[in-house]
Amino acid sequence: MGLHILLISGSTRAGSTNTAALRTIADIAPPDITTELFDGLIDIPAFVPGDQPSPPAVARLRARLAAADAVLFCTPEYAGLLPGSLKNLLEWTVGTADLHEKPVAWVSVAAPGRGEGAVTSLRTVLGYVGAVEVESACRRITVLSAMVGADGMVADAAARHELGESVTALAAHFALN
Ligand SMILES: Cc1cc2nc3c(=O)[nH]c(=O)nc-3n(C[C@H](O)[C@H](O)[C@H](O)COP(=O)(O)O)c2cc1C
Repeated sequence: MGLHILLISGSTRAGSTNTAALRTIADIAPPDITTELFDGLIDIPAFVPGDQPSPPAVARLRARLAAADAVLFCTPEYAGLLPGSLKNLLEWTVGTADLHEKPVAWVSVAAPGRGEGAVTSLRTVLGYVGAVEVESACRRITVLSAMVGADGMVADAAARHELGESVTALAAHFALN
C-alpha cells in the first residue's frame, strides 16, 4: 500500500498561501502517494483536559491522524508563534498520543527572514507530542499571495518544484526506514 500523508494548514483564511501550498502538494504528489488536506481546524473547540468523550471535530481529527503514515504541516506565524488554533489542535493530541512516533514535516511559505517564530514553536510542540521530524522533508519555500492562481494552487513553477521535493523527501524517509 502507498504512503498516505495528512496535510494540515495552520491558516483558516480562505485565500491562505499556506493552504494553497498544501493544495498544490496534493495536486503534484506522485501517484503512489495519497494525500488528504485536513479541513477541520476551524471546527476544533478549545482543548479541555480530562477523559470526557472527544468532541466530534476532535474525533474526526484523531481518525484522520490514525489513517495517516505521516503529517505535513504548513502554517503562518501569528504574533510571533504558530497560530493558537493550530497549537490548540495539537494540544488535543497530547493525552491520546495521536502524533507519538508519527513522522512529520513542515513547510514554511513565509517571505525570506519571516516566519521563524512559527517554525521554532511548531517544532517545539511537535517534539513535545513525540512526533518524529523528518528533517530532510522540511523546507522554506516562499509562497506569496501573488504566486497563487485563481484555481487556489501555487502557480510559480520553481515553488511547485520545491513543494514536490518536500513530498519526495518524505517518501524517501519511508523507503529507507
Ligand atoms: C493575527 C495575525 C498575526 C500575524 N503575526 C505575524 C507575525 O508575528 N510575524 C509574521 O511574520 N507575520 C505575521 N502575520 C502575517 C501572516 O503570517 C501572513 O499574512 C501569512 O501569509 C498568513 O498566512 P496565510 O496566507 O496562509 O493565511 C500575522 C497575521 C495575522 C492575521
